[in-house]
This record gives sequence, structure tokens and C-alpha cells, in this order.
Amino acid sequence: MPLVKAGRVADLPPGEVMEVLVGEQPYAVCNFEGVIYALDGVCIHHGGPLGQGRLDGAHLACPYHLWEFDCRTGEYDRDPSRRVATYPVRIEDGQILIEVP
Ligand code: FES
Repeated sequence: MPLVKAGRVADLPPGEVMEVLVGEQPYAVCNFEGVIYALDGVCIHHGGPLGQGRLDGAHLACPYHLWEFDCRTGEYDRDPSRRVATYPVRIEDGQILIEVP
């Protein structure tokens, strides 16, 4: 899978989430307790922009209807059998790299 640059770790403090576009595909990139996680940026409910959501602990809340997903696993908190895709993250020289499909 190709690695794409998603920004600098220094620009994503713990507790924050940002939206990263790769072409037209959005990703939600989260910093939970100093570890960076990347998820599909499209909510499985009705397509809300997860990268524009809010992180509360490990829970990423969609800005549209507040469904919450574990940013580490992508699991929907009320039904873990439903999840958004997650992608491997690598950090090199302070740069966040996401392995995208
Ligand atoms: S679109 Fe994300 S909670 Fe509805």
C-alpha cells in the first residue's frame, strides 16, 4: 500500500483530530495520548466528515449525528461489529505517513 504524507506530528497535539485529503478521499487522523491513528474520513452512518469531528478520549464523534467510533479500532461504540476502516500509520522525521489502499 502506498504511504502518503498527512502532516506533521507537531501540528496535531494529543486530543486533536484533523481531516486529510488524499485525492478526493478524506481521512481522519487522530492523536490519542501521543499515538497517531488514521481512519476512513467518511462516517458509516450518513457520510459525515469524521476528520471534522471531535475527539473525547479515544472516542471520535462524527459532527453530523454524534455517532462515536474508537479511533484505535474504528469500532462504533454502540455496535462494535460496525466500524470504519483504519489504516497503518508510520512516523518519520516528525512526519505522519498513512498507508492508504
Ligand atoms: S453521518 Fe456520522 S453520525 Fe450521522
